[in-house]
Amino acid sequence: MSPSTTILCGALLFFLLVSSTLPAASFDCDAGDRAALLKIKKGLGNPRQLNSWIPATNCCNWYHVGCDSQSGRVLSLQLTDTYGVVADKVPAAIGDLPLLQVLALKNMPGLSGPIPRSFAKLRYLAGILIKNNSINGTIPRFFSNLPELRVIDLSDNKFTGPIPPGLSHGETPFLVLRNNLLTGEIPASYGDVEYTTFDVSHNRLTGSASFLFKNRSRSTFDISLSWNQLEFDITEAALPVKLRTLDVSHNRIRGGVPKALEDNYYMYRLNLSYNQLCGEIPTAGAMEAFGADSFLHNKCLCGPPLPPCRH
Ligand SMILES: *[C@@H]1O[C@H](CO)[C@@H](O)[C@H](O)[C@H]1NC(C)=O
Ligand SMILES: *[C@@H]1O[C@H](CO)[C@@H](O)[C@H](O)[C@H]1NC(C)=O
Ligand SMILES: *[C@@H]1O[C@H](CO)[C@@H](O)[C@H](O)[C@H]1NC(C)=O
Ligand SMILES: *[C@@H]1O[C@H](CO)[C@@H](O)[C@H](O)[C@H]1NC(C)=O
Repeated sequence: MSPSTTILCGALLFFLLVSSTLPAASFDCDAGDRAALLKIKKGLGNPRQLNSWIPATNCCNWYHVGCDSQSGRVLSLQLTDTYGVVADKVPAAIGDLPLLQVLALKNMPGLSGPIPRSFAKLRYLAGILIKNNSINGTIPRFFSNLPELRVIDLSDNKFTGPIPPGLSHGETPFLVLRNNLLTGEIPASYGDVEYTTFDVSHNRLTGSASFLFKNRSRSTFDISLSWNQLEFDITEAALPVKLRTLDVSHNRIRGGVPKALEDNYYMYRLNLSYNQLCGEIPTAGAMEAFGADSFLHNKCLCGPPLPPCRH
């Protein structure tokens, strides 16, 4: 994850949790939520990191759990770096925390199996960060129906199948599906969403992605499509002017380097390498910032910072 996306996620989590987590809650937690958490602990094989989850105690004081201080309802569950976990099922009991807004399951390489159907009950979920595990199966279509879901990061897992249409909505949607085994085409409807970050890199996606680049005025900051099998002509792409990073390396992208990039003054990382691009590289304006390793291994790109064109 780039520093900017980390900041963005951090800001979201802070916003959601600032009023909820107190170090030593005097109120008691909801009995149903406590029962669900205990099932989750059992489902994960009672890892050592969850030793504070003791049945007769207030679950709002348990590590990795955040509550609403008025109601004692669980709003966030963030299991990160729970190294010892070895489980072939994601606990379905997570779906029994009906007011959950933020769910993080991170850095548990021993956690496999699909996302359970019970997650469809999480109507208030705004952020789902299921990162760096071994979770497989398809990305559930029901994610598209969770009305508040706006930050989705499923990177570094083993998800297969297509990207369902309509994932993540609301203001400043954020979608990171990096490093999975996703196939098929990116649904063209993604071109209608103003993502802050859109990262589907390191998958097996095919077809076009030109529809992502049809409005220069969008507030999109980071786009990564690298390491797929995407095929389209990028010459006339309307790249958002506020883009900070654009990585489309290792695809089958055709055409020339977009002249419009000369006006992308916010861009600090550009990678068009390992594609089928051709022609002279524009060098004016913002393009001065980029060296040869932004353009290497294309079909016939030429001119500075690459060797001169042979006219
Ligand atoms: C994934 O998790 C493992 C185990 O916790 C950790 O060693 C590794 O650095 C993590 N990888 C990433 C990309 O965060
Ligand atoms: C998911 O992984 C588990 C454990 O490795 C395996 O048994 C199961 O067949 C996999 N399921 C899918 C749909 O790939
Ligand atoms: C382009 O995006 C901006 C910012 O979201 C929006 O206000 C504008 O209506 C869009 N233009 C078109 C033609 O879709
Ligand atoms: C672009 O991507 C290629 C391949 O992944 C990498 O070798 C190169 O260093 C990258 N260049 C930049 C400027 O990030």
